Amino acid sequence: MIEHSSLRSAESLIRFGAEKLSSISNVPRLEAEVLLSNLLKINPIKFHTDDIGISSKIMDKFESMIESRFKGMPIAYLIGKKEFWSLDFEINPSVLVPRPETELLIENAIELFKDHESPRILELGTGSGIISIVLYKELVTPEITATDISDEALYVAKNNADRYQIKDINFLVSDWFSEIQNKKYDLIISNPPYVDKTKLSNEELFGIDMEPDIALYSENNGTSDLEFIIQNSSIFLKHGGCLILEHGYDQADYCMREMKKAGYSRIKKSKDIQNIPRIISGTFLNE
Ligand SMILES: C[S@@+](CC[C@H](N)C(=O)[O-])C[C@H]1O[C@@H](n2cnc3c(N)ncnc32)[C@H](O)[C@@H]1O
Repeated sequence: MIEHSSLRSAESLIRFGAEKLSSISNVPRLEAEVLLSNLLKINPIKFHTDDIGISSKIMDKFESMIESRFKGMPIAYLIGKKEFWSLDFEINPSVLVPRPETELLIENAIELFKDHESPRILELGTGSGIISIVLYKELVTPEITATDISDEALYVAKNNADRYQIKDINFLVSDWFSEIQNKKYDLIISNPPYVDKTKLSNEELFGIDMEPDIALYSENNGTSDLEFIIQNSSIFLKHGGCLILEHGYDQADYCMREMKKAGYSRIKKSKDIQNIPRIISGTFLNE
């Protein structure tokens, strides 16, 4: 508990937060500053330049945020947003918190389609909408359909599209391809659930157990959804169309085999900054 009478400045509040978070975070002070600056709606730089007084209402809110963070709640859920691709996105517990690896997925798509006018794109499992929204901004007049099985996730994705005045992404509730009819795409892109929950230690579960199970976990060692998408995607691709997927750290060879079986060629793996294969892409050429 914070001793209210002894705390009047932002600095002492930040110190209290940083100390509490030191056992669960490598950057406890930074986290405490982010939480408090968000509550106060100020730039954290002000903590170093101005003398900021704190009301008891803010103190109570800060204390409860620190408590939730201590229990593992991701910062993005506490402040309601996350930066991705240098853009701010609304985030809440009905969507996955965007991960840096997913920028690599998008970079692969941009590399393949940067010179393509109006590519037709299908994103499966859009969550907060980050992939489709970034592709919309980076490619030349793309025609995008972004699907998710979760209504709540699509609500967040639509808010994010509105935030960037994007009106023409077609958001659709669909169980993978179930609502996709008679259309062929230049690109199918997805960051599907691929984690094997049974393999996670308690330490690894800390924090991610607050994210939606449906966004994270898949059966059969985490491969069920990857398998389903790989096996069913070619029907929805034009001749020369591409499938690009994010996958788990140990699933590259599995995806490679499945893509070969499904008739893909020019299959390419990409590694993340830790040198771990994370992305697979392939081209579908009709006979
Ligand atoms: C790993 S998250 C990716 C979210 C977002 N695209 C991102 O990269 O941050 C997987 C998404 O797939 C959705 N999903 C899970 N099962 C699905 C299914 N059967 N059909 C469609 N979407 C599904 C989840 O709701 C979740 O939003």
